[in-house]
Amino acid sequence: MGEVFAININESINDSQFQYLLSIITENKRDQVKNFLFLKDAQRTLYGDIMIRYLACQKLKINNEQLVFFHNEFGKPYLLNSSEFYFNISHSEDWVICVVSKKEIGVDIEKIKPIDLGIAKRFFSKNEYENLLSMPDNMKVNRFFDLWTLKESYIKYKGTGLSMPLDSFCMSIDDYGIRVISNDKKHLFFKQYSLDKGYKLSVCSEENEFSKNIRYLNLKNVIQSLRLQSTSTL
Ligand SMILES: CC(C)(COP(=O)(O)OP(=O)(O)OC[C@H]1O[C@@H](n2cnc3c(N)ncnc32)[C@H](O)[C@@H]1OP(=O)(O)O)[C@@H](O)C(=O)NCCC(=O)NCCS
Repeated sequence: MGEVFAININESINDSQFQYLLSIITENKRDQVKNFLFLKDAQRTLYGDIMIRYLACQKLKINNEQLVFFHNEFGKPYLLNSSEFYFNISHSEDWVICVVSKKEIGVDIEKIKPIDLGIAKRFFSKNEYENLLSMPDNMKVNRFFDLWTLKESYIKYKGTGLSMPLDSFCMSIDDYGIRVISNDKKHLFFKQYSLDKGYKLSVCSEENEFSKNIRYLNLKNVIQSLRLQSTSTL
């Protein structure tokens, strides 16, 4: 089953908790986090990494120190410890989202902002653009971000980044549901979640089953659980 977890970055933690989190990630990730100019960017990347560590430890019953990550050639992260633990991370403004599944999965969250239809014309497929134009004016922004996050969730499922042209596949949203029209042989499933009214959140998975709701994680509890687990193995 595809499961969805969320953390709001505005939950405050103190400096020693922040430093603790920095101390339990890889050196590469630490460098990436420290190189951000803005604290919020650092928080989003750090918390995403921590969420996956917490979830992997819980589900695989192993310790944080045992987790080994690798990336595909386009940067999609995976865990070496299990062939049955797939995950993906997405962050936008106040939210960090992690999805986990026994099969390949992708997620995208975007904060809804005013749109430029020229972007859709340029990047969406012809059918997607026409679908967007057919919407009443007051629904265009919503449909734009539905299509955007669904497309991105598919790209993130594939793990190819933007090496796959955005108009090489087409998202279809109709009364029968959501599907992707592409050369993919696999049957894929999509689900959208309502998280916060200013955001769109879409998931693409090989599994037909998704958690009904988002599980909101409390960062302080996550920290406590990771701390306990490391002291219990001393
Ligand atoms: C990097 C990319 C995978 C997603 O970028 P994004 O939308 O800016 O970022 P998100 O917050 O959704 O996801 C970032 C996370 O995805 C993961 N990720 C990185 N490379 C990935 C890849 N190739 N595939 C899947 N996930 C990837 C990482 O965990 C990353 O977290 P980190 O930056 O904290 O390390 C890539 O697809 C991209 O650059 N997309 C551009 C967005 C775009 O133009 N979309 C058009 C949709 S119509």
